[in-house]
Amino acid sequence: RIPVLLDCDPGIDDALAIAYLVAEHRAGSIDLAGLVCTAGNVGIEDTVRNALVWLDLAGAPPVPVAAGAAGATVVPHAFTPETHGPRGAGHAGLPTTTRVPDPRTGARLWVDAARAAPGDLVGIVTGPSSTLAHALELEPALPRLLRRLVVMGGSFRGHPGNTTPVSEWNVDVDPEAADRVCQSWEAARSADPAVPPVRWCGLDLTERAVWTPEHSERLLEASGTPLARHLVDALRFYFEFHESVGEGYLAQVHDPLVAWLALHPEAAVTEPVHLRVECAGEHTRGMTVEDRRGHRGRPANAELVVDLSVPGGAGAVLEEVTVSIAG
Ligand code: BDR
Ligand code: CA
Repeated sequence: RIPVLLDCDPGIDDALAIAYLVAEHRAGSIDLAGLVCTAGNVGIEDTVRNALVWLDLAGAPPVPVAAGAAGATVVPHAFTPETHGPRGAGHAGLPTTTRVPDPRTGARLWVDAARAAPGDLVGIVTGPSSTLAHALELEPALPRLLRRLVVMGGSFRGHPGNTTPVSEWNVDVDPEAADRVCQSWEAARSADPAVPPVRWCGLDLTERAVWTPEHSERLLEASGTPLARHLVDALRFYFEFHESVGEGYLAQVHDPLVAWLALHPEAAVTEPVHLRVECAGEHTRGMTVEDRRGHRGRPANAELVVDLSVPGGAGAVLEEVTVSIAG
């Protein structure tokens, strides 16, 4: 069973990713090696609390949950409670939990999990890359230790941002960290071309993952568990947020799509690019700048996931995720 580590900032769509990965662990298709929590949608105390509670609700085994970066690596972190709710779980009144965080830092858990299964661990990032950047400082050989890394971040091929005209939220929160990931993989691949490039799933792909009230109804019909009820309550807040910004009473659920893709690498249609993140621009800070034509003369450090090779595309993936979560 392939070990999987999720670095997340739950977060409503992160909660769907957690529920999906736990369901796959319970079904025997992966080995959930742990969760790293990073400050992102909400502060670190809430992302850790939410991760622990969602694991409980999903019936997860006692996997390690470690607190990672409490803020961005260079500039102060701006939180957005209006997107995911004041505590990151929308309208869900989450219960308490007896689970406790692992004493290790999130960066240490990244390194320990990778060293425990050299060449095997699948890493998934659905929040800012801040903790991963710290892990790369701790263990510069991390890219060589992973089977693959799949990141929700950026916006490619001219697609607009969701935070500034050109930046996507996870990257915008900590562009220096995201750029550190790009540079680390460039160095690792220059030394050893067998190191797989990072798979980046940008908004041009993930905005296709649209959760509607019908998905919520189907989830409740298939499973009346507290997990389903709390997810549906959380998602109601996400619907309201998307409606408030003129996108309709629906929710773009980026993170479960990315978690699914991490487990189904053959379903990704990819384009190799050399990727860097703009950290200085007055109007372009946080922009992911992919070199698709070899202007920089550098080897590819990234693969953009540009499409899904599954009939029904992202819609079909969400159906599969829903069925998996419903058990
Ligand atoms: C990303 O930002 C967060 O709000 C979501 O959880 C997702 O990971 C999308 O830009
Ligand atoms: Ca997220």
